[in-house]
Amino acid sequence: MKTIKAIKSAYLYPRHIKSTGALFGTSKAVENEITRLVSSDEGEVVVEFGMGLGNITKEILNRMSTNSKLLAFELNSKFCDHVRDEIDDPRLKIINDSAENARKYLDVQVVNVVSSLPLTLMGETDVLFSSIVKLMSEGSYFSQVLLRKNGIEKFQHYFGEHHHVRVGIMPKYHIYHCIKETPTINS
Ligand SMILES: C[S@@+](CC[C@H](N)C(=O)[O-])C[C@H]1O[C@@H](n2cnc3c(N)ncnc32)[C@H](O)[C@@H]1O
Repeated sequence: MKTIKAIKSAYLYPRHIKSTGALFGTSKAVENEITRLVSSDEGEVVVEFGMGLGNITKEILNRMSTNSKLLAFELNSKFCDHVRDEIDDPRLKIINDSAENARKYLDVQVVNVVSSLPLTLMGETDVLFSSIVKLMSEGSYFSQVLLRKNGIEKFQHYFGEHHHVRVGIMPKYHIYHCIKETPTINS
């Protein structure tokens, strides 16, 4: 099963390199670190951006309580079909749409946003981040994995403080956990 997944990942990620920004899925170490702050409290709503083939998705679900919900956004419909086949969990809602449209699908505040979006490849991201912070409750976490440190300027100033963790060697990943500290004006 692991081998089939690795083959799918090695085939699908490079094939869609312009939107994935990656040749393969992130590692187990990234899955563990980026989901470390996912709330296990009852009845929470968690959001994932850039679900891909669902490796981080599974770890988020492992950490969430049984009556929480996960909304996972993914642009690529093939990736969405793959995860629908692979993960059978009533807490997971797969949304085949851009992270930029997250507000359309959410009418409650979220406790975690876990993102592996290829930010360094993406152009203007102000619309994305100004809408993300409006979705988040005070004290909630935005966690982002990057291959290069220079994507941080795209989201850093939207949050009160951040914690940086390096994971792996080849490739080396940068994971940022940012906290939403102050309520957004005009939200
Ligand atoms: C680097 S891959 C990460 C995949 C997987 N989560 C992992 O950790 O291996 C980035 C994913 O984000 C998706 N993506 C890119 N832009 C997006 C957007 N605006 N909204 C939602 N998903 C997007 C890509 O299709 C791709 O699956």
